[in-house]
Amino acid sequence: MTTDERFIQIEGVSKLFGALRAVHDISFTIRKGEFFSLLGPSGCGKTTLLRMLAGFEYPSLGEIYIDGQPMSAVAANKRPTNMVFQSYAIFPHLDVRENIAYGLKNRKMSASAIEEEVDRALELIMMPTYGHRRPHQLSGGQRQRVALARALVCKPKVLLLDEPLGALDKKLREEMQLELRQLQREVGITFVFVTHDQEEALTMSDRIAVMAKGRVLQIDTASQLYEEPLCKEVAGFIGSMNFIDGKVVSTTDENYIVEAGPLGRFCVARREGSVLRSSVTIAVRPEKITVSDTPVAPRGENVIKGKMTAHAYLGDRNHYYVDAGTGSKPIAVAKQNNVRTGRNEDLVGCDVWLSWKPESSILLPLTDGG
Ligand SMILES: Nc1ncnc2c1ncn2[C@@H]1O[C@H](COP(=O)(O)OP(=O)(O)O)[C@@H](O)[C@H]1O
Ligand SMILES: [Mg+2]
Repeated sequence: MTTDERFIQIEGVSKLFGALRAVHDISFTIRKGEFFSLLGPSGCGKTTLLRMLAGFEYPSLGEIYIDGQPMSAVAANKRPTNMVFQSYAIFPHLDVRENIAYGLKNRKMSASAIEEEVDRALELIMMPTYGHRRPHQLSGGQRQRVALARALVCKPKVLLLDEPLGALDKKLREEMQLELRQLQREVGITFVFVTHDQEEALTMSDRIAVMAKGRVLQIDTASQLYEEPLCKEVAGFIGSMNFIDGKVVSTTDENYIVEAGPLGRFCVARREGSVLRSSVTIAVRPEKITVSDTPVAPRGENVIKGKMTAHAYLGDRNHYYVDAGTGSKPIAVAKQNNVRTGRNEDLVGCDVWLSWKPESSILLPLTDGG
């Protein structure tokens, strides 16, 4: 690996707060210029890990390297990092220009050079005419852009962002996601972005580390995480997933044959590198299932009969919930509304048949309690 490949190296890092292990033996690398996200539910250790990168906390065990340098003896203000927080940490008594210039004042820069930097930053955040406004005269999105500009003018090698869009409403957040991604491409700085919102992480990131309980479960691109999760926890956290527990009873050239008690046998396409275990769960996404109100048996597909228990109309798609005796939860099916039917037939309470292709499902190890 070149140094750019492991621009940030996290090696065996743990963080203990008393008896609580907030971060548990984490090791991975982040590439130079990458938009890298830490994704996981609240309390899983994302902020703690980010704060260790920033130098606001130090690992109890392990070492962090940035651009080849060990960080254990480097104070926060000497690190090539800068942090943007969820709350708008900009100074209310300073106008936009003064806020952006703040971090440059301590450097040996001429007043005119600072003015130039501020102009460029204002262009970057698309607020060239807002320089003399005060924070209270700005919207939440604009304030967050100013916080970003203030961090970016300092030209950090790494920008650390802790749920920076968390306080914005949904529409604005979606706009800002695209803007932030665009801005990151323009400046080429390595971004480490923390979020608990899976859609946000999927939209923006080159790669995502999915975290739970202080550990990293999987690091991959958005599509790999969605199509090829390695465990039940990741599969259920990224999007929604149906699970059918069973046992592998045989294999053919193409498929694993899984027996799921009274539900019968299912075929799941074999994949390279997948480890065959006896106890497994079949995982299939709602949108990969076809629902029919008449008995169907598409060639080579898995079919399961059930009773529709609920139906939700979401405008662009329909969600159906079908009790097929697969466990405590009904099977979720999503169907895109790509033809204008005018009226949605109500199948709640009716028998329905679900079908999916072997290659639309994957096998995951069956873990306890999940
Ligand atoms: N300074 C601290 N002292 C004690 N416990 C902490 C401290 N900071 C975080 N924690 C605990 O560490 C765990 C991880 O917290 P955090 O990293 O903030 O999670 P996240 O950002 O993923 O929501 C939580 O249980 C939290 O309560
Ligand atoms: Mg946090």
